[in-house]
Amino acid sequence: MGEQYLLEMKGISKSFPGVKALSNVELQLRAGEVHALLGENGAGKSTLIKVLGGIYHAEEGEILIEGQKVNIDGVVSARNAGVSIVHQELVLVPYMTVAENIFLGREAGSKFNINRRQMTEEAQKLLDAYEMHIDADTLVEKLTIAQQQMVEIVKAISFNARILVMDEPTSSISDKEVGFLFETIRTLTKKGVGIIYISHKMSELEEICDRVTVMRDGESVGTRVVKETSKDDLIAMMVGRELTNYYTRDFQKPGEVILKGEHIADGKMVKDASFELHKGEIVGFAGLVGAGRSETMKAVFGLTSSMKGEVYVEGKQVHIKSPVDALKYGIALVPESRKEEGLYLVQDVQFNSTIEVLGQFIRNFRVNFKKEEEITQKYIDMMATKTPSQQQVIGNLSGGNQQKVMIGRWLATDPKILILDEPTRGVDVGAKAEIYAIMNELVKKGMSIIMISSEMPEIINMSDRVYVMNDGRVTGCLSHEDVTQEKIMQLAAK
Ligand SMILES: Nc1ncnc2c1ncn2[C@@H]1O[C@H](COP(=O)(O)OP(=O)(O)OP(=O)(O)O)[C@@H](O)[C@H]1O
Ligand SMILES: [Mg+2]
Repeated sequence: MGEQYLLEMKGISKSFPGVKALSNVELQLRAGEVHALLGENGAGKSTLIKVLGGIYHAEEGEILIEGQKVNIDGVVSARNAGVSIVHQELVLVPYMTVAENIFLGREAGSKFNINRRQMTEEAQKLLDAYEMHIDADTLVEKLTIAQQQMVEIVKAISFNARILVMDEPTSSISDKEVGFLFETIRTLTKKGVGIIYISHKMSELEEICDRVTVMRDGESVGTRVVKETSKDDLIAMMVGRELTNYYTRDFQKPGEVILKGEHIADGKMVKDASFELHKGEIVGFAGLVGAGRSETMKAVFGLTSSMKGEVYVEGKQVHIKSPVDALKYGIALVPESRKEEGLYLVQDVQFNSTIEVLGQFIRNFRVNFKKEEEITQKYIDMMATKTPSQQQVIGNLSGGNQQKVMIGRWLATDPKILILDEPTRGVDVGAKAEIYAIMNELVKKGMSIIMISSEMPEIINMSDRVYVMNDGRVTGCLSHEDVTQEKIMQLAAK
């Protein structure tokens, strides 16, 4: 007899039209361990855990829990088997309250058969236990993405599952919240809960995970003990080759000021933000989640009705009232939340790649399909997007590949000023390196880039200068020579 695992997934295979997403995948989870699932975008991680969660049905393979074969044929049977999942794409219902979302699907007929007031109280207790400063009565649509993600996590934990799966749980929460999450994870594993943890952040893996299973192209390539394995080895397993240059950046002497914001405010989160962007620069915007970085850039981009302050493009004051105006001045913005702010999930890759530049190849009401295809292919190649065809529905691409299509769409507008909000969120290490190299090329050709990011290493390694924000204000600016994580943290708390 071999070891008795908490969970065993054996020989799992799953295909979608034109894609073999999983092929004979093996995964063994022990009670009380945090088991990382690592792999490039599109490797099959989310698909595997959707099989476990009863969302997809595998054509082949079996699932054993504590040695017993289980038949998971839907979300409810997965839950009954003790499996709870935090999904990669947020699935909360926006027009319901936080409490309603947490208890959704178990309001009646269970021990949660409780009235509204009790439900709200229960939810509030959970939220408070994690020091979340969220009111259980708030509508989910009023929450920031980070808060929504925290609610998802609380919801999953509240099921008291034996097997808890987290698919990129920290992609949009701040360091402090990650701290809480990790504490929670440690408490749960002490109780014997087994946790499957998907993340592209290697530092998290080292901090919280015991073992790691690496996937590549729909196959499991191996399982390792994290402490006994180097980061480079894991990356080599993931990408099938060694990755040399991670951050590509040739710093150059910046040109004249191309974009200037003076005392930007939006009547809500942004109180006073001033900044300058020079030609050929990458300027980072750092700060905690909720500091007002995204909102500042949205105001500049014409997405805020009550914007105050002045914006100058190449020295001339401009009045940008909408993204259409912004595009006219050569400004593009790739938003933080691809799902809520941009992707047409039911449309295909081609539509999503060319929607902003459609005007260029429609003449006399005739679409130049060849041009459309060319543009789409150009950005698929440039971003190394993994898709079976241009006609694939974008909602079916893996999360990281959706992000690549989004960046490509805005690059297609050929902007002078590119604003990237968390550009590498959910993107694998290999693709991150590619995105950094592309950013480096673009600024060398004279583009100017603003990058909002919560990932310290990319801010520090890629930026000519770093603005730090806290509570709606710019609290300081650090040059590439001066910037350190400590200095950023000091300014972020100022
Ligand atoms: N519903 C679907 N229909 C068609 N293809 C799909 C569907 N879901 C996933 N795929 C494909 O299956 C493959 C695996 O995708 P999956 O989402 O599991 O990747 P992942 O490892 O989670 O990637 P990421 O790190 O980007 O989230 C991809 O090629 C993806 O395009
Ligand atoms: Mg995924």
